[in-house]
Amino acid sequence: MAKATMTFPPDFRWGTATAAYQVEGNNTNSDWYLWEQEEGRILEGDKSGLASDWWQNAEADLDAAAAMGNNAHRLSLEWSRIEPEPSVFDNDALARYRRILQAMHDRGIEPMVTLHHFSNPIWLTEKGDFNSRLVVDYFQRFTAKVVETLGDLIPKWVTINEPMVYVVIRYLVGSFPAPQQMGLAAAVQATRNLLRCHAAAYQTIKARYPQAEVGVAKNTPILLPKSNNFLGRWWVKRANWVYNEVWWEMLVDGRFRWPFGRGQVEGLAGSFDFIGVNYYTRLYLKFPPRGKLWEDDWGPDAVVSDGNYGEVYPQGLFQAIKAVLKYDKPIYITENGLPDKDDRLRPSFLITHLREIWRAISFCYPVMGYYHWSLVDNFEWDRGWTQRFGLIELNTETQERKLRQSGQLYGEICRSGSISSDMAQRYAPELIKTLFPGESPLAKS
Ligand code: BGC
Repeated sequence: MAKATMTFPPDFRWGTATAAYQVEGNNTNSDWYLWEQEEGRILEGDKSGLASDWWQNAEADLDAAAAMGNNAHRLSLEWSRIEPEPSVFDNDALARYRRILQAMHDRGIEPMVTLHHFSNPIWLTEKGDFNSRLVVDYFQRFTAKVVETLGDLIPKWVTINEPMVYVVIRYLVGSFPAPQQMGLAAAVQATRNLLRCHAAAYQTIKARYPQAEVGVAKNTPILLPKSNNFLGRWWVKRANWVYNEVWWEMLVDGRFRWPFGRGQVEGLAGSFDFIGVNYYTRLYLKFPPRGKLWEDDWGPDAVVSDGNYGEVYPQGLFQAIKAVLKYDKPIYITENGLPDKDDRLRPSFLITHLREIWRAISFCYPVMGYYHWSLVDNFEWDRGWTQRFGLIELNTETQERKLRQSGQLYGEICRSGSISSDMAQRYAPELIKTLFPGESPLAKS
């Protein structure tokens, strides 16, 4: 019998998140597909191939999500599949998305749909990517088609996934498909166009479905100075504004200023109904940065996930939530997870991160749902198949699946809407002493 229990509100959204390119397979009209074919772009030379085979059988994983007691899922639509050539829409692709969305509703799973999650149609790259202002009309046209054909099945929308990751990795780092131009000026221009695209999509969705909830999923790392001195702290403050804060500020007042530049963006002011927080880790920044934008040395005591992806730092989720309270909007944790092939850290990761959300809710912070990244192992961009984020383990050779221990735990949490000391005892006993001290053997004796 569970003694201590952390209970979540009855209408809390319990979900997982995926992205089209990462799970569908054979997205041959995407710029990522071309990128994969170039030597040295993807770790180990991996290919997305069938990915997690969602184009043929998303339903299998949706069954598993429903069995886990999930009532929500965040997925994305692949622009290059829906519009393989400019203005040419693929009705079969739209029909398939309709079946997937309907399959979610049939299973009591509420869809949250992302319109842009890192991948572009090849034709868009040829026309100048997000550097060209033309992208705004193209994105608006694509959004209008989705609204018209699928909008009745979509209560929640994310226009753009992680705009700052997109800009930094594509335009400054270069490990995602390279746009025609790179560098700071191109990054500024792309950011301005991403804001315009978001605003155009927001207005297009709301014009037809005023009740729909529309937001952005924003990567929100906790930034800290590597050296805790004046310059180190100044640099982090500045970087935090540029990377974490100014995006939301621009959505509030509609005024462009990333990281310099001026001017109003049409339709942008007030264009968000919720805040999507994607939280993974904390990062230490060195000043001066010298080539590397962030450090991936977390120190000797840090618990680090596979492939040195990031430090497990649950308190950061609470901090990330706290940082966006000032915008006074509902908050969804639109992504949170870790690569952990052997599931050695994920059970305790789930409990400790969800506990931070429970703590936030107990302060009346408006956290409305949690979408764990990810439901099933999927193609992790430039890190290919080397990093496994799924609650469901995938054998990419056979497409066989197996629910990880952490998936079983997440099922218990979602079905009961709570975390109990009994669950911790069974899945992550090392947490009992710190999270439920009253139930540790010491306290009982
Ligand atoms: C992205 C996902 C990615 C995940 C794990 C997020 O930044 O939105 O597409 O797979 O992180 O790296």
